[in-house]
Amino acid sequence: MCGIVGYIGDGGARKIIIDGLKRLEYRGYDSAGIALLSEGRIKLRKAAGRIANLEKILENAPVDGHAGIGHTRWATHGAPSDENAHPHTNGDGSIAIVHNGIIENYQELKEWLVREHGITFRSETDSEVVAHLIGVFYKGNLLDAVYDAAAKMRGAYAISAVAAAEPDRIVALRKDAPLIAGIGDGCNFLASDIPALLKYVRTIYLIENNETVLVTQDGITIFNERREKVKRDVFHVSWDADAAEKDGYDHFMLKEIFEQPKGIFETLNRRLDADGRVRLDGISLTKQDLEKIDRVYIVACGTAYHAGLVGKYAIEKFVRIPVEVDVASEFRYREPFVNEKTLLICISQSGETLDTLAALREARAKGARILSVVNVVGSSVARESDDVFYTWAGPEIAVASTKAFTTQLACLYLIALYMGSATGVLPEGEYRRILDELNALPGKLEALLADERTIREVAKKIYKKEQIFFIGRGTDASVALEGSLKLKEISYINSFAIAAGELKHGTIALIEQDTLVVVLATQDRLFEKLLSNIEEVKARGAYVIALAKEGNRKIEKQADDVFYIPACADEVTPVLGVVPLQLLAYHIAKLRGCDIDKPKNLAKSVTVE
Ligand code: M6R
Repeated sequence: MCGIVGYIGDGGARKIIIDGLKRLEYRGYDSAGIALLSEGRIKLRKAAGRIANLEKILENAPVDGHAGIGHTRWATHGAPSDENAHPHTNGDGSIAIVHNGIIENYQELKEWLVREHGITFRSETDSEVVAHLIGVFYKGNLLDAVYDAAAKMRGAYAISAVAAAEPDRIVALRKDAPLIAGIGDGCNFLASDIPALLKYVRTIYLIENNETVLVTQDGITIFNERREKVKRDVFHVSWDADAAEKDGYDHFMLKEIFEQPKGIFETLNRRLDADGRVRLDGISLTKQDLEKIDRVYIVACGTAYHAGLVGKYAIEKFVRIPVEVDVASEFRYREPFVNEKTLLICISQSGETLDTLAALREARAKGARILSVVNVVGSSVARESDDVFYTWAGPEIAVASTKAFTTQLACLYLIALYMGSATGVLPEGEYRRILDELNALPGKLEALLADERTIREVAKKIYKKEQIFFIGRGTDASVALEGSLKLKEISYINSFAIAAGELKHGTIALIEQDTLVVVLATQDRLFEKLLSNIEEVKARGAYVIALAKEGNRKIEKQADDVFYIPACADEVTPVLGVVPLQLLAYHIAKLRGCDIDKPKNLAKSVTVE
């Protein structure tokens, strides 16, 4: 995901494009750049990091123009850096492009451009290929050159291009990545998404797949693949800018909770081939490598640590190798048994968490092999690892992590399946059974999310509580920790999670009349045990909200309220079980009037020790 903005008018392009990019930062925010057309030249400014960094550069080296294109990046090919930031230009800087998506055959095109045209590449991106291709085909008509370049490119993308020799036009092309054109008064616009333009226009054209747009100050012309003009009705936008950016959801957190089916689907899909085998693509963990490993450590912080706790169950069960899970800030200070036979799995959404990075460096220095599960491409954790297993959650904006957690779980299941199968420990029948369960998850998540109303109703009954306990056994104990963290970080309720069997060893002293206890009982093999735990807390007056698998209706006799997750194998219940807890935390925090996306005292990326 990246964001594109284009503008052409009388002047002041810089401000308009920067405004638009800020509205698109949700699509990616690891670098940004702008190319402005002025006095027959293309003037370029770009910077790694947030748009604020680009603004600083523009303050120190101001440029403006009557037209231009801008970009905010979510890295896919090449780390976030000044060089890899868009716009990219051809060799002499006479063509500039911005690109969203992936050019699948970029390697082949790059080799062709180097071999046949002697081109030197300056970045590690697939996008730079587009600038050079257009440059090679350019014979004084940008529209022609974009068509010629597109005929060579494969992939799903949107691009926008300008040429110094044609300052009166911007050309853009959509192929399976979003693109809109905005109709202004004496000016016109392009963007990846409506929020980028709402400050300036509300009348737009929705560009369809395989269409090319020619945008001038006076008009917008849309062409189809055969270069015939296309007539398009205008679309009037009635939403306000904030709602549009969040796709109509009240908060990014809720939007991200609802993006989980897609995140899981993408994460699985990127790593599974047509036969259902886990594709390592670039990760070198051969059978021989695995045979050398005698111990696995998982290190992470917060939500990622909770994913690691579930990962331990999967790896120990499918691979039969000891796994230790540690919070990263503790790992490095307790002299763990790490050597060349250790596989260290680092889990981090941002890939910038300093505690996790420090643990990684510590283990690396002792010879461990580092495999990371990371969401942000090119982040520090990703760069310093031997291998990276990316989650495909897309940008996570809300501070409370939701879709990163479930996609981390999907990665850990895939890693466990791969290791179990490669070492011959996991029988093929079991591999297939778990694989089928994983593939069914996106559909089951959709079904679960459709029942959000039930959770909202329960939240109304309990949102004034000042103390909530979460209990569970097995992987439910790990999900209880995550449910409790979600609740405390966004609602500021004092919540506490504990393994259900451990309750009687002390904490049960706190249970009294009307104490709220959330009981996770999603696993068939532990179900009866949890019924006994419910009895224990009910006997002391607790109000019980239970989480169970569809079909286990017996629990309704004991619990005061029950949420059900769709039937599934015990091994994968955490992916489904966490969702009602995320929603419960969300609705409670909303009813309490909390700042859900930016809770107090927290930051999305914790880069201090
Ligand atoms: O970016 P990371 O996954 O490394 O971040 C780790 C934690 O800081 C993070 O999960 C934090 O606990 C979240 N706010 C939880 O919602």
